[in-house]
Amino acid sequence: VKVDGVPTRSIWLEADGWSVGVIDQLALPAAVRTVTLRSVDDVARAIREMRVRGAPLIGATAAYGIALAARADPSDSALDAAAGQLLATRPTAVNLRWAVQRVRSSLAGLQPGARAEAAYEIATRICDEDVQINHSIGMHGVKLLRALATRNPDRPVQVLTHCNAGWLATVDWGTATAPIYLAHRHDHPVHVWVAETRPRLQGVLTAWELAQEGVPHTIIADSAGAHLMQRGHVDVVITGTDRVSASGDVANKIGTYAAALAARDNGVPFYVAAPSPSIDWQLADGVRETPIEERDPRELSVVRGRDERGDIAEVIVYPDASPALNLAFDVTPARLVTGLITEQGIAPATRDGLARLFAGVTRPA
Ligand code: MRU
Repeated sequence: VKVDGVPTRSIWLEADGWSVGVIDQLALPAAVRTVTLRSVDDVARAIREMRVRGAPLIGATAAYGIALAARADPSDSALDAAAGQLLATRPTAVNLRWAVQRVRSSLAGLQPGARAEAAYEIATRICDEDVQINHSIGMHGVKLLRALATRNPDRPVQVLTHCNAGWLATVDWGTATAPIYLAHRHDHPVHVWVAETRPRLQGVLTAWELAQEGVPHTIIADSAGAHLMQRGHVDVVITGTDRVSASGDVANKIGTYAAALAARDNGVPFYVAAPSPSIDWQLADGVRETPIEERDPRELSVVRGRDERGDIAEVIVYPDASPALNLAFDVTPARLVTGLITEQGIAPATRDGLARLFAGVTRPA
């Protein structure tokens, strides 16, 4: 998708052929800045500091992290240390584990001298596959949007989304946004309600992306979605995910579960765009077993933004004496999920539904 009209991916190999460029998501929406990652330390820091964020992009960046590590030292011990360092950055998005293990295990049988080149190849393949996967999710999801359009032909389809499951969170297209971008490009009118997603405001990134593509949208407070659903202003909720259990439970940004409850109470379909690298086939019960990231409470109590001069400013908005708990993700039980939009098609959020859709599909470990 586009930045200032120019087609752009969120991650790329720089002209030197080995360092890795990413968009600095901490600078958005005030400025479009890029960062060059030259070592596994740079990659781990960028993920931890949330300069790169969103499950598929975290996975893709970590894959290049192993490649950068292999370039510096291709020994088994150095690669194991790099894998451990990357895996320790963030706990919830399973794409991180999937990508690191995929690159690391592909290098195991190779001579040290061949490892860096192979690692770059796999990391680049992971990026290209991500683009394909998201495009396929878009093709399946846009059919849903078209079907919904026939119910209210006099207005754009009203989609509500939470967090950023857009192209910034992936390599391109986004997961939840892929159907929206395709609908918009094919002149199917669509309007997106964007939950701002406190405290890290990933919804603002979604809004920025949608504005770049000219998709009509409106930012709302996280707590406003239920009311809009009750008044009939939402046709469908589509979110992304950081980890889907084998039984269809969906971990995503905190607040997603509340949106799913409101959707169920108001008869609004609740879909999750779920690329296969976000499915944790080893996880039986997502509600009980998903590791939930707990972050610094200062992300809640300190609000960061631009002042009137355009400079970044921080203000404290909580009473000094009040403790705060900053949980970054929650899990929506499968029973509240209308369907999982995957690259293979739309699956019911059940163990059988997922297994049937992916039967016979070779899944890289
Ligand atoms: O904490 P973040 O900013 O990395 O979280 C991003 C999200 O939770 C996204 O909604 C999720 O990764 C789905 S991405 C397509």
